[in-house]
Amino acid sequence: MQARSVRHSQATLTELMIPSYANFGGKIHGGILLSLIDKVAYSCASRHAGNYCVTVSVDTVDFLAPVEVGDLVSLHASVNYVGRTSMIIGIRVVAEDVRNGIQRHTNTSYVTMVAKGEDNKPTVVPPLLLETEEDGRRYLEAIKRKELKNRYNLEFDRLKQELHIDVNSLHLENERCVVAWEQD
Ligand SMILES: CC(C)(COP(=O)(O)OP(=O)(O)OC[C@H]1O[C@@H](n2cnc3c(N)ncnc32)[C@H](O)[C@@H]1OP(=O)(O)O)[C@@H](O)C(=O)NCCC(=O)NCCS
Repeated sequence: MQARSVRHSQATLTELMIPSYANFGGKIHGGILLSLIDKVAYSCASRHAGNYCVTVSVDTVDFLAPVEVGDLVSLHASVNYVGRTSMIIGIRVVAEDVRNGIQRHTNTSYVTMVAKGEDNKPTVVPPLLLETEEDGRRYLEAIKRKELKNRYNLEFDRLKQELHIDVNSLHLENERCVVAWEQD
């Protein structure tokens, strides 16, 4: 299977933030941005794969700054890593105030997409051609992020096994919650 470059599938989606996207505080709903993140990730992944794709997971969605009505939001997506059937797409979200051209980086997210074949089963994607050092850096960072996520999941599963609510409810004493069930 022939490798495809990062450039081949890079995608940008720009959308005007209209009043109906706003919440009661007048800022743009987080869900609107999540939907745009999913769309641009899909465009990028399906272009790389040459197939339809599905979203498997969305990591690190931290909204660093609010987005305002009237902002032009651009989402820049590129394939950071490919596995056998999965791809990790990095998305940088930038909001621009059209009146003065000032741009704010509002978040960076990583979406894992899986390519599906005609049989609706995961299908192999082309390898990634890394043409620049930046492509290489992003690829290596994605590997580290994946390793860390696996370690986190394993460690969290282990911690969950140790959580016995009758013993650990003591740990809730200094929390801002009220334990309302009968304790022995
Ligand atoms: C994604 C999906 C196809 C995986 O199916 P599966 O039977 O687990 O297939 P596999 O075990 O072969 O995994 C396929 C790939 O997904 C990756 N994967 C599976 N779960 C994952 C997770 N939680 N996070 C990251 N990658 C994951 C696997 O590592 C594998 O990658 P690789 O081929 O590059 O090594 C299946 O879970 C699915 O269809 N999920 C629903 C997706 C969807 O509908 N999304 C829209 C939500 S509204």
